[in-house]
Amino acid sequence: MIVLAALAGYLLGAVPFGLILTRAAGLGDVRKIGSGNIGATNVLRTGRKGLAALTLVLDALKGVVAVLLMHNEGRWLVVIAGLFAVIGHLYPVWLRFKGGKGVAVGLGVLLAQAFVVGLIACAVWLGMAVWRKYSSLAALTAFATAPVVALILGDGPVALGAVVIAALVVYKHRANIARLRAGTEPRIKLGA
Ligand code: G3P
Repeated sequence: MIVLAALAGYLLGAVPFGLILTRAAGLGDVRKIGSGNIGATNVLRTGRKGLAALTLVLDALKGVVAVLLMHNEGRWLVVIAGLFAVIGHLYPVWLRFKGGKGVAVGLGVLLAQAFVVGLIACAVWLGMAVWRKYSSLAALTAFATAPVVALILGDGPVALGAVVIAALVVYKHRANIARLRAGTEPRIKLGA
């Protein structure tokens, strides 16, 4: 069952919605613009807010579905499925293991695993994004918050999974972190 949870999570997570949607919309390869990432933030840089929102929702749903598939199999399998959904998004076999940064899928995983933890992580992301206007900083803050909240709520398995997800998200944001430190990270435009 562990292998099934990991495999189902990985295969779901590996669906590169940002790339599929931008290609379908005739915008070419999203990896050739902006940060080169396949996530919603970079899709937003095409100027298509609706497409970016759809990428965010579908990437999050990958995480939700991966977790819900294991919903009746116990807490640890739920954590493994969610972790592998994030890994699938980060390292998709279809894109020669060069995937995204795991923010939307990670938030979807947290929402499905422990709704309050996910909700607080989403609120932190939104608050930071609106306040500081750096998508990457918002994500880093949200994923740093999640394991602490899970621990406070006494959900050990989710806290452990969230620590690993946070570590992966930080690792994938290392170029963003360098730009944030240098003051060269581009800000996002959320409004009209
Ligand atoms: O969702 C990823 C975000 O945190 C950073 O994206 O394209 O600015 O590297 P990007």
